[in-house]
Amino acid sequence: MKILVLGGDGYLGWPTAMYFSRLGHDVMAVDNFVKRRIEIEEGIEPLEPLLTLHRRIALWEATTGHKIRLAVGDLLNHRMVYDLLEHFTPDAIIHYAEQPSAPYSMESRDKAVFTQHNNVIGTLNLLFAMKRHCPEAHLIKLGTMGEYGTPNIDIEEGYITITHNGRVDTLPFPKQPGSFYHLSKVHDSANILFACRTWGLRATDLNQGVVYGIETDETKLKPGLHTAFHYDAVFGTVLNRFCVQAVAGAPLTVYGSGGQTRGFLNIRDTIQCVDLATQNPADIGECRVYNQLTEVFSVLELTKLVEVAGKKLGIEVRIDHIANPRVEKEEHYYNPKHTKLIDLGLKPHLLSDVLVEQMIGHIQTVRDQINLSTFKPTIKWREK
Ligand SMILES: NC(=O)c1ccc[n+]([C@@H]2O[C@H](COP(=O)([O-])OP(=O)(O)OC[C@H]3O[C@@H](n4cnc5c(N)ncnc54)[C@H](O)[C@@H]3O)[C@@H](O)[C@H]2O)c1
Repeated sequence: MKILVLGGDGYLGWPTAMYFSRLGHDVMAVDNFVKRRIEIEEGIEPLEPLLTLHRRIALWEATTGHKIRLAVGDLLNHRMVYDLLEHFTPDAIIHYAEQPSAPYSMESRDKAVFTQHNNVIGTLNLLFAMKRHCPEAHLIKLGTMGEYGTPNIDIEEGYITITHNGRVDTLPFPKQPGSFYHLSKVHDSANILFACRTWGLRATDLNQGVVYGIETDETKLKPGLHTAFHYDAVFGTVLNRFCVQAVAGAPLTVYGSGGQTRGFLNIRDTIQCVDLATQNPADIGECRVYNQLTEVFSVLELTKLVEVAGKKLGIEVRIDHIANPRVEKEEHYYNPKHTKLIDLGLKPHLLSDVLVEQMIGHIQTVRDQINLSTFKPTIKWREK
């Protein structure tokens, strides 16, 4: 297949590009490196320094003999997007190329506007270019479980059948996102559904949980092929941050009571899910939605797991409850359905199997690179 990986320099995009390339697909990675610019702006960096994407691709080819094509370009440049789709004519488009941080989107008006403009208009450009040049290609779009928020009912996979005043319909599940970033994903989902219904495009919207993990089979093939791993308060997702804090001997920063409960998955399972979606394309005119998570934990449950794993490696874990910088429920019902990807064949990697060696153990080998000053959240949802 011809597979376009948008956001190919990112945490998830780079391992995905290597994975499909190794399977023998014709892969093109696209990125404008805006994430690297934001890192400089925010004074943060991944745990291990990254080679440029150009060098990583050359190293990949030298190591495996497989090629990955590269296009440097911004999805906001609609001419670039049209040209790309016209000349590459992808069968599948895996779209990761968005600003993915909720705190960043809440830092200021400018950053909220940047996030929504980048994410929503980038995706809109892509939809129009698909309509023009490859209307039968399958769009696999990364959304987030955060689109749903934390309703007091079970969360269905994308759609809910409702009986109202004696009539029945199946409608998009209500969305109650918790940041301007999450809102950008909600807007994307509505635009994608509309494009499928109106133009007959086909898409799978993957409402992904919080991703953790450092390694995939491909990143381990050679030093230098690793992916961007963030642990700071802006881009680091909660479990990644906790593991680095444990190794650094810093307390795990729990926001508020720690009863916040979310869906999680291993980075290897992100790739597995995207692969399953690619192999099982939506029908023409269909917008499928899968809830992409494998396990559900509260923040406090995560601290306990890190504590137990740390002990096995001789690390004593401390916990610090700090004022919650976000506006979110700290105790709530949470029961997201997530059976559709399992039905397609997903075999989850469980957190308990990777926490000790593949996460905390790995981080110990690069302990001296940790920047302790980036753990503390400085961005508040509501200034007091
Ligand atoms: N990491 C997670 O836990 C998680 C959870 C749920 C959803 N997601 C979603 O998955 C996707 C990938 O996440 P990630 O953690 O790999 O993020 P990332 O920031 O590491 O990767 C995104 C990449 O896209 C590029 N990009 C952004 N805007 C672009 C544009 N306009 N044109 C071209 N390139 C652009 C960035 O430079 C970056 O390399 C994002 O859409 C994110 O919202 C991630």
